[in-house]
Amino acid sequence: SHRIMLGPLVAAIDQGTSSTRFLVFNSKTAELLSHHQVEIKQSFPKEGWVEEDPKEILQSVYECMERTCEKLTQLNIDISNIKAIGVTNQRETTLVWDKETGEPLYNAIVWLDLRTQSTVERLINKTPGRNKNHLKHKTGLPISTYFSAVKLRWMMDNVDEVRKAVVSHRAMFGTVDSWLIWCLTGGKSGGVHCTDVTNASRTMLFNIHTLDWDPELCEYFGIPMEILPRVRSSSEIYGLMKICSSRKSGALSGIPISGCLGDQSAALVGQMCFQDGQAKNTYGTGCFLLRNTGAKPVMSEHGLLTTVAYKLGRDQPACYALEGSVAIAGAVVRWLQDNLGIIGSSEELEKLAASVGTSYGCYFVPAFSGLYAPYWEPSARGIICGLTQFTNKSHVAFAALEAVCFQTREILDAMNQDSGIPLTQLQVDGGMTSNKLLMQLQADILCIPVVKPSMPETTALGAAMAAGAAEGVSVWSLNPEDLSEVTSEKFEPQINTEESEFRYARWKKAVQKSMNWET
Ligand code: G3P
Repeated sequence: SHRIMLGPLVAAIDQGTSSTRFLVFNSKTAELLSHHQVEIKQSFPKEGWVEEDPKEILQSVYECMERTCEKLTQLNIDISNIKAIGVTNQRETTLVWDKETGEPLYNAIVWLDLRTQSTVERLINKTPGRNKNHLKHKTGLPISTYFSAVKLRWMMDNVDEVRKAVVSHRAMFGTVDSWLIWCLTGGKSGGVHCTDVTNASRTMLFNIHTLDWDPELCEYFGIPMEILPRVRSSSEIYGLMKICSSRKSGALSGIPISGCLGDQSAALVGQMCFQDGQAKNTYGTGCFLLRNTGAKPVMSEHGLLTTVAYKLGRDQPACYALEGSVAIAGAVVRWLQDNLGIIGSSEELEKLAASVGTSYGCYFVPAFSGLYAPYWEPSARGIICGLTQFTNKSHVAFAALEAVCFQTREILDAMNQDSGIPLTQLQVDGGMTSNKLLMQLQADILCIPVVKPSMPETTALGAAMAAGAAEGVSVWSLNPEDLSEVTSEKFEPQINTEESEFRYARWKKAVQKSMNWET
């Protein structure tokens, strides 16, 4: 039956912090036809360090493509209908590899990693007035452990292989998008070394006004510009898939890779937030609220980032966004499971928390990687406070969910203050939105409705659509009425504002303690 209504297909590789996915959509209806997901191992070699294996990341992409192709074949869908592939990825995560051997020269340093904390503190101390926003006029970003430049600097200072490769002109730097596109378009035999404006805008080496690498910033961090990928728009043909025919995903060879967006930008596109003022919040490993500000970059006065939202075509203008970044959202669930062992799976968390329906005065600030927006305080550390003899693991579980909601409230407040026009509802997506208790809590704590699309894979959809657009296969902008019924689920606030404000005020006290617990 599928065969009759199938238009051209568009696909996306979605390489996130915790997992990799490959997804195939019907471009006529935006319906998700098939996908596969593989978890990614994270290693924590030292306190505050977070690494991933670049080869495992690549391997997971191959595995997801292979399994998805198998599933499509079972559905009687011809793989040759796939016209374009987009790449979307965890941002900032930093890789260096050898262009002659194709080998990574170190593990990927994940965006959450804190090893550069002392470097960051040193850099800030050197700026006039100890101003962490010293480079913000060009980058839109505060000096922080979060962005790629300091991670790359760390590798050049501490990893012999990286230093040698840089000196002998064999090194290539990239975020995950660059690594994947290079490998998938041929690697050491002719792979394309590129990135897109959205990913580039997270490195701290990129000037968001000129939309190019900035020699002064590169100088500031001591990064040779020849190791940087070429910056392209988010929707154009970067190269063709080149996969060894012995692999089961070999059938994808020759398909253009023609979309590339950092995952948060891709979600903005997938949620169709193309108008100035439209916003979305994605709950993944972290949690990221982006609000489209149109063709103008707006500098925040309340601790938000200014970032490139997308540039859908070489000749299209760039659009910008204000972003509130929360480092720990889904990561706290994994921590409760792997480190504390109080839940066996993420689904158990909802049940456990729902069994009490309150944190009973317990507050949990998961500042595992310091605090991001709006504080940008790398020395903050996690705390659980307000405990009594009565407190049990269910209350802690509830407090963990509430923490995700309070952190979102903080960035929403900052966003509203910056723009002067409060959001009247919040569009959400991402893995954690399947947790209904979380969504209800979020509406309660924000005091505005929370709206969730029926097709939750908006990140992948955004990348697939960008890829399709470059190949003349368009869906969303031209024929929104063609889209399969855009149904969504809405959560209305159910508690009164006083109660909500009371809990939020307590949360803010807990945050202060997480920042000052050492003194
Ligand atoms: O900035 C990091 C972000 O891109 C990671 O997203 O979905 O893996 O939490 P996610």
